[in-house]
Amino acid sequence: MKARVHPLRRPLRGKAVRVPGDKSISHRALLFSALADGESRIAGLAPGGDVRSTARCLAQLGVPLLRGDGTPWSAPRSATERFAPPERPAGSSALPEHDPDMGPDDAMVRGVGMRGLRAPVADLDCGNSGTTLRLLCGILAGAQVPATLVGDASLSGRPMERVAAPLRQLGARVRTGPSGRPPVVVEPGGAIRAGAIASEVASAQVKSAVLLAGVFAEGETTFTEPARSRDHTERLLRQMGVKVATRGTTVAVRGPARLSPIALEVPGDLSSAAFLLAAALIAPEGSSIALPHVGVNPTRAGFLDALTQLGARIQLDLKREAQSAPGGEPVGDLSASAQRLRGTELDGDLVLRAIDEVPILAVLGAVAGGTTVIRGAAELRVKESDRLAQMARGLRAMGAQVEELPDGLRVTGASGARPLRGAEIDSAHDHRIALAFTVAALAADSPSVISGAEWADVSFPGFFDLLRSLGAEVELVA
Ligand code: S3P
Repeated sequence: MKARVHPLRRPLRGKAVRVPGDKSISHRALLFSALADGESRIAGLAPGGDVRSTARCLAQLGVPLLRGDGTPWSAPRSATERFAPPERPAGSSALPEHDPDMGPDDAMVRGVGMRGLRAPVADLDCGNSGTTLRLLCGILAGAQVPATLVGDASLSGRPMERVAAPLRQLGARVRTGPSGRPPVVVEPGGAIRAGAIASEVASAQVKSAVLLAGVFAEGETTFTEPARSRDHTERLLRQMGVKVATRGTTVAVRGPARLSPIALEVPGDLSSAAFLLAAALIAPEGSSIALPHVGVNPTRAGFLDALTQLGARIQLDLKREAQSAPGGEPVGDLSASAQRLRGTELDGDLVLRAIDEVPILAVLGAVAGGTTVIRGAAELRVKESDRLAQMARGLRAMGAQVEELPDGLRVTGASGARPLRGAEIDSAHDHRIALAFTVAALAADSPSVISGAEWADVSFPGFFDLLRSLGAEVELVA
């Protein structure tokens, strides 16, 4: 599918625009409640393809899951069937009772306990989702459930030894495919022993895999990383009754643990909100957008600090009461209006806390006056695509001057009211590339075409319709 995106001619306006539920928290809410003793209820799950991959894998592992419309998530019935139709499968009596008040993005999960997962009959297809594959790896190693985890073409090219190696250090039997990529095979045997893992990469996915394996082991398992990655796992495990301690960049969990079920409302995803905030900032004078109930976890909210550095003023109304709610995630209402931006240097801890927002920050850099330098983002080379290369290529096609650095980008926009020109951009099968260039196209001097626009659905289904409802002109063509 192609999106033809026209330059914005009039202000972009939206009050109370709900963004999809936070993807990172949604994965964790489903995975951890699958291991709990009892029934959990999760409201406002991320509706995109990634979280559906997690839910389907859990169904394959024998976890009864009911979606908001009352249909269960079903597992394939054979090794050759990829997805079963959403009809009631055998054994559905174990499904949670449907509550008609549930919204379309809500789910009920009947936890099977720490030892209740069953070995899947087919490969676990994690689709495009690195979080699904890596976190499941930790859980399956801990629970000693043999399985083969696979993904789509993009996920099949991503590094998995970063998860497999520490799990092996803890006693698991985990194999990766050629060059350490998927498929990842969790083999029978290999009980987890508590231990201390030091990681060369700051990664919440690796940390979570280790901590999740650790909750199955007797004693304390620690994970130390070079800088502190997002802490959603720590917060949610604590809420579910696990002993978790944080000392600097080391996190410790004590096992064996039991998880209590939760009732959780997932906040809006700041990584999705970022595209709308950016669109409002670079839109014509008079634009403004308000996004209620967005997660602003400080280990994740580097984007907001980056905006301050770019000279933007964003309103954040922190809803303190949400901090003490289950999940323990700070939540706030965000709003932004059209403003002039100035180039800046972004590096270190801030970039780690904005790692998924680097593509849209590069777009803002191309629209800002002066030069923006982003460093410390080498991890972007092994995301759903090589995001540094894709951003450099696309922004150059739109007329910006871009130097690709080993770990970042130096971006200088042309000056003037319309600093970018319309271009044809390929999403490279990467949702954040599709979304970032759609926003860039709003500030161009002529229409742009984004091919592979359907990839936006991985994290932000309905993005193009939403933009249209705010005043943008976007046409979708098959
Ligand atoms: C995520 C962690 C980050 C992030 C990804 C989601 C998570 O990846 O880029 O989109 O939910 O734990 P890394 O752990 O590889 O840095």
